Amino acid sequence: MQKALGNFVLILSIVFAACNNTETKNAATSDSTTVDSSASQLPSAKNFENLIDGKQTALYILKNGNMQVLVTNYGARVVSIIVPDKNDKPTDVALGYASVQPYAEGGDTYFGAIVGRYGNRIAKGKFKLNGKEYMLATNNGVNSLHGGNKGFSRVVWDAQQTSDSSVTLTYVSKSGEEGYPGNLTSKVTYIVGKNNQLKINYEATTDSATVLNLTNHTYFNLNGQGSGTINDHLVMINASTYTPVDSTLIPTGKIEPVKGTPFDFTIATAIGSRVNDSSNTQIKYGRGYDHNFVLNTKGNINEKAAEVVGDESGIVMDVYTTQPGLQFYGGNFMDGSHTLKGGKKDDHRNAFCMETQHYPDSPNQPNFPSTELKPGEKYSSTTIYSFSVKQ
Ligand code: BGC
Repeated sequence: MQKALGNFVLILSIVFAACNNTETKNAATSDSTTVDSSASQLPSAKNFENLIDGKQTALYILKNGNMQVLVTNYGARVVSIIVPDKNDKPTDVALGYASVQPYAEGGDTYFGAIVGRYGNRIAKGKFKLNGKEYMLATNNGVNSLHGGNKGFSRVVWDAQQTSDSSVTLTYVSKSGEEGYPGNLTSKVTYIVGKNNQLKINYEATTDSATVLNLTNHTYFNLNGQGSGTINDHLVMINASTYTPVDSTLIPTGKIEPVKGTPFDFTIATAIGSRVNDSSNTQIKYGRGYDHNFVLNTKGNINEKAAEVVGDESGIVMDVYTTQPGLQFYGGNFMDGSHTLKGGKKDDHRNAFCMETQHYPDSPNQPNFPSTELKPGEKYSSTTIYSFSVKQ
């Protein structure tokens, strides 16, 4: 135990030393060193230095105690989350790429991204606000997904590292961008807290009425990214109801009980135990889990919204949020076509997302909590991913 802890500290020191600030203020700039653990897959800060759309991209290294989180300002993305497993081995539990280019090229997987202006789908890319109809970019069949063609995940945010353990990213989305009204300023702060917690604070203001649903789209594998299936992870979601969808994954508007369905995660259950239940239409539509759960926590961040346990690593992730919903996505559309840090592929169901949010398509669903933001109002929400281990 003592030795394992020593190794852990040594490995972190090597990585931290290698990622020292040298050129760009606040951003890490040099190469990381190869070490024999899953943390060896840590990307080099240099590989994130680039000019995209005329703006500088970089890698920001946040650390506190035994936890380290890497963030890039390209899409305000989480690139790595390193926490100790049950043997104190530093384990990177977030999927990501080794450099900034793959995030910008090809189809977007949303690895680690902040998605906005509207996380998840808006039916047929249309909604009405104060009597006026708006037409959005449609990028998912007939629907608009995750903010449209670029959304907030394929733009360069302004970043300021405010301490060793926090970075604030800001993006101003112009009125009309992707079809949305209102000049919207969004601020996202990542904070690595004591006791292995990643806290994400979201804030936004607008100069005219708009709709807004910000979330983080990190793909987690608690056994370590690239380590294989997540189907044996145990999941608990504190939700008695969920929002069923049509075949294009737009909510029907109904809020239905999970009891007696494969969506009942009120007691911790292996993801894979019901994921292929072809007799369930909702599982068929989602090709597995890709659904919004209505949290019993009702925005109370002190109550646990979800808990996931990595079956091999013993790593536990608890989710706390001020948001009313949680999109549980089981990586059904992952197809092995992308190469992750460390060289492994993003194979089918090798990761899951726990996207804390308002419900999909809320602007068209009068019985869902409103996602409208008016001028003079301040949008704010917080989500915490808290890590520990079970032996
Ligand atoms: C959506 C999925 C989508 C995925 C893209 C999830 O939030 O619910 O349907 O395929 O994002 O990575």
